[in-house]
Amino acid sequence: MPPQEPSPPIPQQAFLEQLSSPEGSPLKIGGFEVRDLAKRFGTPLYLFDANLLRKRLSIVQKALGDRIDVLFAVKANSNWAVAKTFVQAGAGLEVASAGELYLAEKSGVSSSLVQFAGPGKGEEDLRAAIQFGIYSLNAESAAEVEAIAAEAQKQGKSQGVAIRVNPPQSVGGSRMRMGGGSKKFGVDLDRVPSLMERIHKDPHLNLRGLHIYAGTQCFSAEAWTENAERLLGWAMEMEKDLGISLPSLNFGGGFGVAYFQGDHPFDLELAGKGLAKVLAKDPTKNRRYFVELGRYLCAPAGVYICKVVYLKESHGKTHAILDGGMHQHSAAAGMGSILRRAFPIVAVKNPFADAGQPYTLGGPLCTPADEFASDYILPPLEQGDLIAILGSGGYGLTFSNHSFLSHPTPGEVLIEQGSAHLVRRPGKAEDILRDQLLPGEASE
Ligand SMILES: Cc1ncc(COP(=O)(O)O)c(C=O)c1O
Repeated sequence: MPPQEPSPPIPQQAFLEQLSSPEGSPLKIGGFEVRDLAKRFGTPLYLFDANLLRKRLSIVQKALGDRIDVLFAVKANSNWAVAKTFVQAGAGLEVASAGELYLAEKSGVSSSLVQFAGPGKGEEDLRAAIQFGIYSLNAESAAEVEAIAAEAQKQGKSQGVAIRVNPPQSVGGSRMRMGGGSKKFGVDLDRVPSLMERIHKDPHLNLRGLHIYAGTQCFSAEAWTENAERLLGWAMEMEKDLGISLPSLNFGGGFGVAYFQGDHPFDLELAGKGLAKVLAKDPTKNRRYFVELGRYLCAPAGVYICKVVYLKESHGKTHAILDGGMHQHSAAAGMGSILRRAFPIVAVKNPFADAGQPYTLGGPLCTPADEFASDYILPPLEQGDLIAILGSGGYGLTFSNHSFLSHPTPGEVLIEQGSAHLVRRPGKAEDILRDQLLPGEASE
């Protein structure tokens, strides 16, 4: 378990502003009192605001310009209603499994706006992607290209394939890097040209271009655009050397969301201006460009709500034991972080309180890792009070180990057109046996 930093003051304010939760009143999302939603739908609960999802997409589209197709990375939030909200607002989807692809198909997205990344795409993934005819499978190895070619031939189709590049050096500015050096992600840059030729020659493959994804939580717009510039440079060089044209470039995503004190918001305007300068250097005027973003589009538009089940004192500290925990929001309990820091957390009854007393906030699991914060200042809590973890619209349930202890999964609610819609039914205790075979039950 990573060490816990003492509770720092954190940027709740910025998240509350985006939610338009008025100062001086209990927490609201999409104009609804969170207390009322918790009463109606129960806790633990995820709440998403469709207007804010659309607003996030539109500020990105505006900043990056209309030459860029923005894809929403479904791994950040696999609720169908969330994906559908983005699709209806003009986004495409980036998927990473046959499951996410199934969701994409059900969202009504055009197959020309779907890309599939991931280093271990299996037979079922490839079969489904080729059947749907997605714009590109972003291949991460030579062996994967062979598997795609074989499946495309079997289906008698020509499948779009881009090559995800593993650059020689990792790109600065990202907290979790997924490129540079020896990596399972992408194809080493020096191996790309020969793979490109391999794809180009195959009648069952349609070379789409290059893809790069440097890492998540990038806070440097300059580093991000330099990365895009490098990708364009490699593409132009390879086109010249090989005499092959590359119809598209995917510059990846990873724009950072400032959850913690000291995080500077990602400078979207600067990224937009930088990208425009990069595109101006591209002599190929009809090339398609993509950006694939998860967190930046959805995280600020969601909150995770749990209830204080018990309060107790132990060795001088007050513990608030919650009905939700790391099994439903692992990221907020520090999973995937080198340093464990508390997410922005507020008391629903008084989200703007700037004074109170220290609480250790832990969930119901039998592991000390199930803790959202220690010595976190909140207004005095009582049993039954509600806690909200802000910035939880992305990498909440999708990033969580929700089988551990088999508590039912939380419900999910989307606020849309002035109504609160239950868009994921809360789980039930019986779900523990779902898909398990009891004695006498046939295995098909
Ligand atoms: C290939 C790929 N694309 C897009 C994303 C989305 O990243 P983010 O949510 O940081 O924008 C990820 C996240 O891991 C990814 O691996």
